[in-house]
Amino acid sequence: MQSPTASAQRGSWGTRLGFILAAVGSAVGLGNMWRFSYVAAEGGGAAFVLLYLVFVALIGIPVMTSELVVGRMTQVSPLKAVTKLGGSQWAPLGWLFVFCGFGILSYYSVIAGWTMRFAFDGIRGAIPQDTAGYFNAVGTRTPAVATHIAFMAITIFIVMRGVKRGLESAALILMPLLFLLLVGLAIWSSTLADGGAGYAYYLKPRINELLDTRIITDAAGQAFFSLSLGMGAMMTYASYLQGKQSLGREAVTIALTDFGVAFVAGLVVFPIVFHFGLGEAIGLGGMLNTDNTVGTLFITIPPALQSLGKVGNVIITAFFVMLFFAALTSAISLLEVVVAAAIDGWGWTRHRAALLSGSLIIVAGLPSAYNLNFLAMADKLIGTFMLMLGGLFTAILVGYYALPQAEAELAMGMETVSMRKAWATIIRFLVPPVLFVVLIFAVPSVVGAVRALLGV
Ligand code: PHE
Repeated sequence: MQSPTASAQRGSWGTRLGFILAAVGSAVGLGNMWRFSYVAAEGGGAAFVLLYLVFVALIGIPVMTSELVVGRMTQVSPLKAVTKLGGSQWAPLGWLFVFCGFGILSYYSVIAGWTMRFAFDGIRGAIPQDTAGYFNAVGTRTPAVATHIAFMAITIFIVMRGVKRGLESAALILMPLLFLLLVGLAIWSSTLADGGAGYAYYLKPRINELLDTRIITDAAGQAFFSLSLGMGAMMTYASYLQGKQSLGREAVTIALTDFGVAFVAGLVVFPIVFHFGLGEAIGLGGMLNTDNTVGTLFITIPPALQSLGKVGNVIITAFFVMLFFAALTSAISLLEVVVAAAIDGWGWTRHRAALLSGSLIIVAGLPSAYNLNFLAMADKLIGTFMLMLGGLFTAILVGYYALPQAEAELAMGMETVSMRKAWATIIRFLVPPVLFVVLIFAVPSVVGAVRALLGV
């Protein structure tokens, strides 16, 4: 039994909508707008989109269901939940989760800082034509550190306010605004001449690319990153659930909304790319190498839009404000994993946990703010590889060490017996081998990113 003060420190959701929007807010982030469009471009557009969908359906949704089940069933932070289910030998998995939350947020916040900077400078019309030079000036070193700190301060402030007044209120305000901005931008984008070529590139798969191992790993990694899986974020959010809703249905809702947003973001970006002839610049001709594509969106989009004058400045700002909202609701969930561990692991107050871990994350982000190769390496190593590793072990834990309890928890939402059986079969026999193979495929890209960092 937890003491009443411990559960008051933990908190719970006020409404089902609040939980759903917060979970969707975690999933929808820089991953949908910034990562999805450049990885899709790298991976041949439509082929990538198709494979991505397959991974979301076959691996992502079952793993998300597992995380939700573990969270609601244990009612504790992921750090404790894994040992509660599997015994003390599972502690390393809990630490991997906390490390991922910490590590991802450290570089994620640097990128989120850029979105704040570009939104401000966009509306002031202060982004010069030479955006590459400008990006180098504001995207690294002191200016990047400043926006990184500002972004973290906002995130810490919201997390300090707790589940209902912080996480849930932020999601209830920011997510509807984000949807509005996104739809508005997609409509504007559809009016651009030559947009059709963009849609075609995006939507017509070339079959040979479907078998490319790099595109397969990219799609799998992107599914984990975008759905916030493999590091206990969804588990943490579900641990604040008290209701008996169907967790399978919640997983499908969250995953489909996340895909919808990524897909519509592509409908915004690809027509812009083709209308303004940016294909070469963002590497659609296979020109893109993995080195430092991280700044691509920031370098290519603003000058193109600025050629439209005042309207362009408004669109630039709408675009980066939307990215900022998306990043904020994801950053909140990343910090929350660390904070929840500190609250029920070490009995800290929420204030102390948020302030201290947030400050440490600011420090941990400095290498990414100073060196974009470090940022890219962290994104490959933690944001792709470690998430899939976390997902693999979560599936093993749930499928082989806690299946009866998990099935009983799922049954509470009245999932039919055949659906539960299908889920259990996928978690036991499909997810582990597929993730194992994909992890092996992913090794070269991690090694490549480390070598780029070391310059060898
Ligand atoms: N899903 C978020 C995005 O797409 C990133 C994230 C990953 C958030 C893992 C939480 C946990 O940007």
